Amino acid sequence: MEDRIAQLGTDARARIAAAADLEALRCIERDLLGKQGPLAEILASIPSLDKAERPAVGRLANVLKCELLAVAAERREVLEAELLAAERSCEDFDPTLPARPARRGSLHPITRVRRRVEDVFTSMGYRILEGPQVELDYYNFQALNIPADHPAREMQDTFYCTGSGNLVMRTHTSPVQVRTMESVEPPYRVISLGRVFRKEEQDATHDHTFHQVEGLVVGEDVTAGHLIGTLRSLLAHLFGRELDTRLRPGYFPFVEPGFELDVRCPFCEGGCRVCGRTSWIEFCGLGMVHPRVFAASGVDSERYTGFAFGFGLDRLTMMLLGIDDVRHFMAGDLRFLEQF
Ligand code: PHE
Repeated sequence: MEDRIAQLGTDARARIAAAADLEALRCIERDLLGKQGPLAEILASIPSLDKAERPAVGRLANVLKCELLAVAAERREVLEAELLAAERSCEDFDPTLPARPARRGSLHPITRVRRRVEDVFTSMGYRILEGPQVELDYYNFQALNIPADHPAREMQDTFYCTGSGNLVMRTHTSPVQVRTMESVEPPYRVISLGRVFRKEEQDATHDHTFHQVEGLVVGEDVTAGHLIGTLRSLLAHLFGRELDTRLRPGYFPFVEPGFELDVRCPFCEGGCRVCGRTSWIEFCGLGMVHPRVFAASGVDSERYTGFAFGFGLDRLTMMLLGIDDVRHFMAGDLRFLEQF
């Protein structure tokens, strides 16, 4: 057996050295070192050998295997170098041709604006939290003071998931409010940014998938004044100057009182396409956290007050970057994305 291994080694080394190209080398390796090859056969026969013979045969076979792998690797390097040299010396090889340009990716416009918004809020001491996009009915509606069968549900066109578990594609980022209140002790300031879904007819300003920014601040003596100041300060940072705002009453079941905040159009005086010729752009829903939401989340509403706000990241991105159709965002068209 030992002679056989030695002979195998001699033959194998000769075959590898004679391999004319990479393909031939691959075949030889497969022959010699593959599962059906002579080395595998020898190793498999060890249990049937004399006990005394087994260790030496095992060792020799394994040493040979390692050696052949190394010899083959060396030969491969030589063949590769020869191949490269042959390609280089070939007539139509022109090393001065410019390389193909590398295609660089870029950040999605929503991601860009999202990061700017995150920067402003983190500089004001906010933490960024995330919640699930497929949400329990409880967090999306019930804990936010929107009971089953309540007409307030009609405000949002919901994708209900089939199957057990009462799941919905979240229609807003407000469920993160409840998840936060349940798990963190006040005081806190948090924002949450992400995708939301509504069963809407698509047009230039509506898509079934869009993005919201939610804010929640809970502590002692938190007031609506803080809330309005925060949003005005956000706008000033984003647009580089103070913008006029106006507050209107607004109904959201999870805040009391509730408002809507409009921004004076930064692009015109007296009406343009962006503001629909009204000079005002609806920007944000906001209000003071409703005592029922506090109760559902186990927060002591005698001791704490809080404010919440929610606005669309898509519309803000359209305003900041001059984009005219919300459907571009999710279309995945490189001609659009490469502009940013
Ligand atoms: N979640 C509301 C919406 O989607 C916005 C909102 C958030 C309103 C927080 C008030 C407070 O329209």
